Amino acid sequence: MHHFEYKVNELYCEDVPIKKIAAEVGTPVYIYSHATLERHFRVFDEALAQGRTKKHLICYSVKANSNLAVLRTLVALGAGVDTVSRGEIYRAIKVGCDPKKIVFSGVGKRDDEIAYALEVGILAFNVESHGELEAIERVAASMNKKAPVSLRVNPDVDAETHPYISTGLKKNKFGIPVTRAREEFAFARQQPHLEVVGLDCHIGSQLTKPSPFRDAIARLGELTRSLIQDGVPIKLLDIGGGLGISYNEEDPPSPADYGAAIREALAAFEDLDLTLICEPGRVIVGNAGVLVTKTLFLKQGEVKNFVIVDAAMNDLIRPAFYDSYHGIWPVVRKQGASAFVADVVGPICETSDFLARDRALTQQPAEGDLLALMSAGAYGFTMSSNYNTRPRVAEVMVKGGEFAVVRKRETLDDLLRGEEIPSFVK
Ligand code: LLP
Repeated sequence: MHHFEYKVNELYCEDVPIKKIAAEVGTPVYIYSHATLERHFRVFDEALAQGRTKKHLICYSVKANSNLAVLRTLVALGAGVDTVSRGEIYRAIKVGCDPKKIVFSGVGKRDDEIAYALEVGILAFNVESHGELEAIERVAASMNKKAPVSLRVNPDVDAETHPYISTGLKKNKFGIPVTRAREEFAFARQQPHLEVVGLDCHIGSQLTKPSPFRDAIARLGELTRSLIQDGVPIKLLDIGGGLGISYNEEDPPSPADYGAAIREALAAFEDLDLTLICEPGRVIVGNAGVLVTKTLFLKQGEVKNFVIVDAAMNDLIRPAFYDSYHGIWPVVRKQGASAFVADVVGPICETSDFLARDRALTQQPAEGDLLALMSAGAYGFTMSSNYNTRPRVAEVMVKGGEFAVVRKRETLDDLLRGEEIPSFVK
């Protein structure tokens, strides 16, 4: 569900014609719908607001879309955040997120990042290795603080998703093997500057079935019970993010189904007094954003048609990286148009620079026509780069009939900022 809809033949974001935004802000441009963000967060929150999942905290995963206006929208609705860097924590603080709603994940935290998180006073470090426990103990000791830690366990569950975004298998770099968890917890408890608060996992992203979540929670629940028996005071059970969305024909569980699956998996652990933490990213922002691009040229190859547009793999890398699908909708629908099969490609000098391959577009675009790449709100702008010295694009947020630029398009000076030619280079 989202608020990108045709009114007669023109695509709108809420009450604003996309054509109007493109005319004022230029292309390519990411456009986010405030109403969609709000709805997705509320639906997710409500899906958990009963029974065994009632005591919960939604820590929105900042990496999916870290724009300050997006973060502010979610934080104002009561969201906490899941972060993976000092930069993401900084963003969360900037939008007024309560530090006690921030979790800090990631396999490679540096000392300065650990120190920053301690200074801010976050809810928990999601710790992924023995070395990291030692590092946090060392930094916390030097600051005379006690660091709240959850241990991220790798439950060895197949998320049945793209291998690049599958994280809960033994062969993945993430988490502490479930078989070693008890000894790492025991080690953590002996450290004077660590306070063990929880157990964490994240098995992957874009999951389209509830069963891997259920399996992971079952394993975590068992472990939690044995830890509590060992006397480890587990209060937080963090089950990560990962709920998928429909890009094309996927039929992922609804948030309500997801909530029910979690409650079912938690049934055996009802006696334990735990706060559930979820770290959704994509399901909150994915369908709340589109990338609008302009057709530059049409090119007939020997065996294919190419629609060359002004957005490229540096702006939206998901098709090139994961071969992922984004719907492509014309911003203005033409009467009586018939399908047109083409590769939609960008200007970058790589064959992997495609946004869609062999796609049956609903109509043949003409030069200057605008196209909307759908479901681009998650891992779109945040994964963009300056490859080919292309400025990162503008981001716009729409609310009702209003819109605002929430990140300016980069300028040529922005592109060169920080670069210098040293005196020894003649
Ligand atoms: N928590 C942790 C520890 C994570 O690593 C991730 C995502 C999430 C939460 C949020 O997962 P979500 O609910 O969004 O599935 N760039 C890829 C996705 C990478 C996901 C990385 N981790 C893509 O464009 O599909």
